[in-house]
Amino acid sequence: MIEFFIDGIPIQAQKGQTVMQAAVASGVDIPFFCWHPHLSVPGNCRICMVEVEAEGGAWFDISCNMPVTAGMRVLTDSDKVKELRKDTMQLITLNHPVDCGICNKSGECMLQDHHFAYNGMPSLSRDPKTHATKFHNLSGRIMLDNERCIMCSRCVRFTDEVSKSHALGVQHRGDHSLIRCAADVNFDDDPYSDNVIDICPVGALLSRDLLDHARVWYLKATPSVCPGCERGCSINIWHRKPEWKLNSLDARLNTRIDRVTPLENADVNGPWICNKARDLATFFERDRVQQSMVRGAVVTSDKAVTTAAEIIAAAKRPVALVSNWGSNEELAAFHATLAPSFTSYVKTDCLPLPGERLEDDVLIKADKNPNTFGARALYPALPADVSQALPADTDVVLVWGEGAPWAQIPASATVILLTSYEHPDNARANVLIPISIQTERDGHYTNFNGTVTSFQRCFAKAPTVADAQFLFEAVFAAAAPLAGVR
Ligand code: SF4
Ligand code: SF4
Ligand code: FES
Repeated sequence: MIEFFIDGIPIQAQKGQTVMQAAVASGVDIPFFCWHPHLSVPGNCRICMVEVEAEGGAWFDISCNMPVTAGMRVLTDSDKVKELRKDTMQLITLNHPVDCGICNKSGECMLQDHHFAYNGMPSLSRDPKTHATKFHNLSGRIMLDNERCIMCSRCVRFTDEVSKSHALGVQHRGDHSLIRCAADVNFDDDPYSDNVIDICPVGALLSRDLLDHARVWYLKATPSVCPGCERGCSINIWHRKPEWKLNSLDARLNTRIDRVTPLENADVNGPWICNKARDLATFFERDRVQQSMVRGAVVTSDKAVTTAAEIIAAAKRPVALVSNWGSNEELAAFHATLAPSFTSYVKTDCLPLPGERLEDDVLIKADKNPNTFGARALYPALPADVSQALPADTDVVLVWGEGAPWAQIPASATVILLTSYEHPDNARANVLIPISIQTERDGHYTNFNGTVTSFQRCFAKAPTVADAQFLFEAVFAAAAPLAGVR
């Protein structure tokens, strides 16, 4: 470790760290725009300028590109540093439109924050601002407002260094500079493209999906896990704060997912996610099953539970098809209650979507389910030849979740289906019980390399919908007194 000083306070730095890295690690605040901890250092915005005290006279340099040396004395807040920062802010805001009132980045814009902290002055320029295109579609998902861009180049470096699509570049020079897509690359083909929205320090890159839908201060972030593949990236699911509940508009706006952003997790996804996580609302907000049914007729939840228990108690050769979307808690509850009554196999609930990237060396994994690891720690995979698991004399099949091999379930078997979503195949169920989805409960998944991550409840479930964990316990309690339950 190397000791140096920031504003007179001793700081321990690792060999090779820059002043910015050591400051961030020690909780010292130095402003930045172009620097990003997971990208290369271009040193182009100059807002991170600091003063270095030296015997021959102080000197000034950018902290994001200055290696720490032993005994170095850095000032981040001297009068001269403040003056330089103010000059830099004046330059950066020279052509920036002051349209914070209509900007989607408002509330989480670094330019707003730094302007308030280090400048606070109107533009000194007497010349009119240079205008540029305000609504440029970089892709089907992302809109670019060129006037707001401060040319930090974070987005360009992301596509070069992380997603490696090399989709973005800088066209022209000086105050005519524009971020543009490379002529031979379609930014829609980059499955990580939306990360540039998060890392853009200003409101230049905007999600077309979220645009003008909700102000960020009306939203709340709930920690969760992306179930889109067995990577299990940590995410924040953003939804309306209860205190800002909408009373006069569509009530569904209060319980919808407004956006999804990465939740940094060094063990799983670092600071990134792929676009599939951004689109989770499309997946979670499909039509839901709301009522229990027995042989096509709506029944109470209690009646469905007792009917399922009677069927299980009388079964001769029952098979359970276990969901690889079940949480560790749900799997444990099934294992402790109903599993001894069944021969159990783990099915694959979700297959890759048409056109979806199957796998890469960034994040995306081929298995498009979140808890295959957790489920297969308890039960074997459903064999490719499904008839081995579901022989003709199978008399009861418990289907948990989606993706059941309906065509191979013996026609004579009684089916108990626990599912969340409407689907034509649900008509095959003799007993159907609606179960909650990930956003309606707390839980954990175990990802492909054994890392356990947690998700929290965002919304309340409907009263007629069961949590699988407690449903297993209820069915077991009802079945246990009946003959035949193991
Ligand atoms: S669009 Fe945003 S991230 Fe890209 S260079 Fe401009 S300010 Fe930086
Ligand atoms: S890599 Fe997998 S888990 Fe991560 S965001 Fe994409 S689909 Fe979700
Ligand atoms: S953050 Fe150091 S130059 Fe931009």
